[in-house]
Amino acid sequence: LGQIRKPRRRTSKPLFEVSLSLAIKGSGTSSQTLYRELTTAIVDGRLRAGTRLPSVRQAREYYQVSRNTAAQVYERLVHDGLVAARQGSGTYVTKRLSRSTPAVDSAHARMPVHRLNPFWTDESVGAAIGFWRDSARPPSKARHSRPVDFRPALVDPRLFPFDVYRRVSAKQLRGLERTPATFKSAQGNQGNFYLREAITKHIALTRAVVCRPEEILVTAGAQQAFDLLARSLVTRAQTIVAMEDPGYPPMRVAFAAAGARIVPVGVDSEGLIIEQLPRDVGVICVCPSHQFPLGMTMSARRRERLIQTARARDAVIIEDDYDGEFRFDASPIEALRAGANSDCVFYVGTFSKCMLPALRLGFVVAPTWAMATLIAAKNCVDWHCPTPIQTAVSEFISGGHLARHVRRMREIYQERRRLILDFLHTELSEWLDPIPSCYGMHVSAMARRSVDAEHVADALVRQGVQLHSLSRYFQGPQTRTGLVFGYGAADLAQLKQGLVALRRVLSDA
Ligand SMILES: Cc1ncc(COP(=O)(O)O)c(C=O)c1O
Repeated sequence: LGQIRKPRRRTSKPLFEVSLSLAIKGSGTSSQTLYRELTTAIVDGRLRAGTRLPSVRQAREYYQVSRNTAAQVYERLVHDGLVAARQGSGTYVTKRLSRSTPAVDSAHARMPVHRLNPFWTDESVGAAIGFWRDSARPPSKARHSRPVDFRPALVDPRLFPFDVYRRVSAKQLRGLERTPATFKSAQGNQGNFYLREAITKHIALTRAVVCRPEEILVTAGAQQAFDLLARSLVTRAQTIVAMEDPGYPPMRVAFAAAGARIVPVGVDSEGLIIEQLPRDVGVICVCPSHQFPLGMTMSARRRERLIQTARARDAVIIEDDYDGEFRFDASPIEALRAGANSDCVFYVGTFSKCMLPALRLGFVVAPTWAMATLIAAKNCVDWHCPTPIQTAVSEFISGGHLARHVRRMREIYQERRRLILDFLHTELSEWLDPIPSCYGMHVSAMARRSVDAEHVADALVRQGVQLHSLSRYFQGPQTRTGLVFGYGAADLAQLKQGLVALRRVLSDA
């Protein structure tokens, strides 16, 4: 089997695009090699369900084997359940690939699976980083009614002004055509200058954060900002990183992947509990404006103590301000990075909530001493974010469209939020107690008495309603039970439908 060669280039129409390594003619291994190659291609998904394999008559052309050999191989694949022969039509890769067929198992056994880094094959890591990918489709029973998605921090793309975005995009693309952006320029890798300038104005207005374009690094969403900060700030197996618990699981994964020693720290009604911070903490990650997922705002007193503690311990703070644009009262509390002595704060912002997650655009406001390191890490990952997206968003902000969109969404979110809170305070008050908050795109509620939030969430999924139980946000022991009501993706009618379904489930429990 060591004697392997690539198939000849075919001149006929390429019906079958999968490239196979075939045995040398006369080596006596062609049947075994073809069987192995086809099995692997099916298991890997290179040959998808429904793909028609070349006919036995075409065996010489496609596999350089005899008809007989191909027929034997196909028979074995039929026996393994990987393909099916349809009378008069051909041989097709089967629709449903059972992962436990002997062929699949043996194909996997031959793969050097142990080469994969065990960190990434750990199920809990997969679950944490696959956070948004959960409990997919509502069951068929619920399909006739519209599904309701209460997952937090999602946005409703139906409300995004695509017409405006299309216009600014087209204008920017025309500009790029005339003056192509230079690739890999030091400044380009930090992010488009005009975008960074626009961001400084946007966060000065909405979050009172004052900074210069030189202090901003443009990233592929907040998640890449966490990853770059982890790469830059963590020394493997040494750096202690404190994280709010409950918290945002994908952020935890970024730091764990960099080898951080993660310490979960509890939160109370004023935010992160300072007394629980480890003595030798190096990095403290917080969502002070709108704790994720509980929703409280860190008090002014707690902010001051947090900054003092970080400075005294020579630690840095990462402020995740994922939905800070959406504030619903006149609360004067601004971003942590806006306050006094906040030069130890790395401020992370994103356009996923105030615009669209599909843009994959975010940023870090970083102290200047860290910028070169962050740019180096960014270069290592992807050099820079796509220029057409950066320039379009820059134009979207400087043309006043973002401010307009945020103003409009604030009203819509406030209406949705009011509906949920009214329902929680009336129809659901027997079971749930909302946590006071004044920001964002979700509200959480603690479960009273013996409500089994996990069970409630499971029962709702069966009715086409996705609602997270608080349990999935904890890293350490679960100290609270409750539910998280996101209102970014569902409209008023959907929210009502979901809340009524929730009431039914709670009363039936
Ligand atoms: C708390 C929190 N932080 C950060 C993010 C990251 O957003 P993105 O990577 O899309 O910018 C999210 C996304 O939903 C979030 O909920």
